[in-house]
Amino acid sequence: MSIRFDESTKAFTLETKTGCYQMKVDELGYLQHLYYGPKVGQTNMSYAFRTYDHGFSGNPYDMRLNRAYSLDSMAQEYTSFGVGDFRVTSIRASFADGSRCAEFRYESHEILDGKYAIPGLPSVYDNGEEVHTLVVTLKDIAANIKIKLYYGVFAEQDIITRAAEIFNSGSDIVWLRKASSMCLELPFGKWDMMHFHGRHCMERQPERVPLFHGIHTIVSGRGMSSHQHNPFVIVCDREATEDAGACYGVMLMYSGNHKTEIERDQFEGVRIVTGISDDRFRWELKPGASFHTPEVILTCANGLTQLSHNYHRLIRHNVVRGTYKLSHRPVLINNWEATYFDITEEKILSIAEKAKELGIELFVLDDGWFKNRNDDNAGLGDWIPDTNKLPNGLGGLIKKINALGLRFGLWIEPEMVNEDSDLYRAHPDWAMRAPNRAPMMSRNQLVLDLSRQEVLDYLYETIAGLLEKYNITYIKWDFNRSISDVYSHSFPSPRQGEVAHRYYLNLYKLYDMLTKRFPHVLFEGCAGGGGRFDAGMLAYSPQIWCSDNTDPISRLKIQYGTSFAYPACTVCAHVSASPNHQTGRKTPLSTRGVVAMSGSFGYELDLSLLTDEDCAEIKEQVKRYKELEPIVHDGKLYRLSQTGDSTHYYSWEYVSADQNRAVLNIVVTNPLANSAPVHVRLKGLLPDAVYRINDEFECNGSALMIGGYTFPRLTGDYPAMQVDIIRIDR
Ligand code: GLA
Repeated sequence: MSIRFDESTKAFTLETKTGCYQMKVDELGYLQHLYYGPKVGQTNMSYAFRTYDHGFSGNPYDMRLNRAYSLDSMAQEYTSFGVGDFRVTSIRASFADGSRCAEFRYESHEILDGKYAIPGLPSVYDNGEEVHTLVVTLKDIAANIKIKLYYGVFAEQDIITRAAEIFNSGSDIVWLRKASSMCLELPFGKWDMMHFHGRHCMERQPERVPLFHGIHTIVSGRGMSSHQHNPFVIVCDREATEDAGACYGVMLMYSGNHKTEIERDQFEGVRIVTGISDDRFRWELKPGASFHTPEVILTCANGLTQLSHNYHRLIRHNVVRGTYKLSHRPVLINNWEATYFDITEEKILSIAEKAKELGIELFVLDDGWFKNRNDDNAGLGDWIPDTNKLPNGLGGLIKKINALGLRFGLWIEPEMVNEDSDLYRAHPDWAMRAPNRAPMMSRNQLVLDLSRQEVLDYLYETIAGLLEKYNITYIKWDFNRSISDVYSHSFPSPRQGEVAHRYYLNLYKLYDMLTKRFPHVLFEGCAGGGGRFDAGMLAYSPQIWCSDNTDPISRLKIQYGTSFAYPACTVCAHVSASPNHQTGRKTPLSTRGVVAMSGSFGYELDLSLLTDEDCAEIKEQVKRYKELEPIVHDGKLYRLSQTGDSTHYYSWEYVSADQNRAVLNIVVTNPLANSAPVHVRLKGLLPDAVYRINDEFECNGSALMIGGYTFPRLTGDYPAMQVDIIRIDR
């Protein structure tokens, strides 16, 4: 059992393969956090805390004579508010009598087999492996609130999940103004924070900064997890590297507005609070009702590489679902950068024919296929094929594509509407907009108010209708603007603060219904590239378009940043044209191939315009990807270049799960004159096994891991190389 409760000390210990999490119920019933880190045997970590009388940190009434006891300096599992802990709080609420104070004390706990689920929200699931759940119930007597804290212990995976349920046990309405998923404290140590910021076409750029005194906030109020701030942070020891040092990952499994606050307080403690953003949040909690927060996925690892491995394995096996979870992802061709809106059946078929010749397996018809969609000003909402562009209808085109031996995928952007559409003309009140105010436009489109049941019903029927009618096995589901002017005509004014979260509850419901009814359909998530790349979306769409920037040199850093949290199988990566459409940069086809092969692979260019030489190379790339896919998707990733090297080169390696095969990659981003050759030390191999290296030489794993590998001199425009490392002594 990975969860223990010691009756005599009232301490809980959650144990994973290498880690330990401890908390205890103290003499007043507060749930104190004691420890999260590497295993510490049976030790009760209370001994590490000493308390003093701190000026201006007050004392609970029952402890008024013990000035060393203060909520303001105590590490806690989920904090009180308004009663003397002045740091970042986990929850805020207001009550019928106007008060805004509550303090939560232990009531009971349960230890259960298996992983809890969260009603209405995606969460990590077990596959029948040994997973246990701890539920600790806290209560505030005066305010009549109970909070259940959920802990899911995935011992083998070194993962602990957390979520909270807030229950109104009184007879008056409670207004929730903040409801975080968890609070995690690191009472001792000197820490850095890594976060993943960005913008459209440059998502998840890693940044590592020392935690200063004060509050660091990673937030999105854009109605999506966002290009700007991914809902994932790492807090790591100042000295931590890829290979060693305490690293804590905090990943919020949510796709809407989120906020992570990390406070370094007056006594050097670090408190991390994460969850749905409280900006503009206000939730009516009726008597007898519960509010469930999204899940947080925590890991504690020795080094950044191990942290990534923990997340990669968990996301692939316990987050992603359905037919495509572990199976081959079809190599696809997407027509967007080949045609944009300028689609004809003839053009599409010419690309598809070429694709089939080159070994590609699936054709994705992107934006522009439906009525009135000749540019991005009209059409969204009316998902009816444009017979001017497709004279034989969508069905006719799909038949021809299928006859070529290709499967068919379709782009949709269901959550949006253009004012110039039949849907908008029929239901103007279905679009999100504040009363008496012209809405902010973005790409000249509006967001449908998915918090409304009618909108949910309409979208379900429309998408299910397309999937019933046509032979579609792949959907690219886009979302091309942030949500502003948040307002729903179906909620009374005091409840407008619920709309942004209700939108996501219904989006998840919609995805859930569709993925259950059409299990053979592979969903690709997309939001102007990777604007909604998060664990919540990954529960429904096993792969996500990583960025609208397809330039392989830009992609190196985007995919590098993405790799800290998310595994390669979730990253859609395509070879596109050179010069690149976003940056104008020219790169060799081989380099574009090497970069895109570190994801779920595909093409996005007009294949019918390529030379025979390029076509021959693409044929080889497709073959090679199929050979490498099991290593890249199921193996372990090692980032071999550090941020400092990346102005010169990026190097990374995948090692198969059985360690019998590895592939080493390099892309030179800035060839240097007369420089030392690039030398890397490989990782993750079997020390005593003998490997053949690119048919060049043979040696054992420890030689490669200690002596390393020296790349030949690579010159020219962004050269790339892959090195095969294959075990031969079996
Ligand atoms: C977004 C997507 C692109 C493409 C266009 C179509 O930008 O990220 O891949 O589908 O929309 O309008």
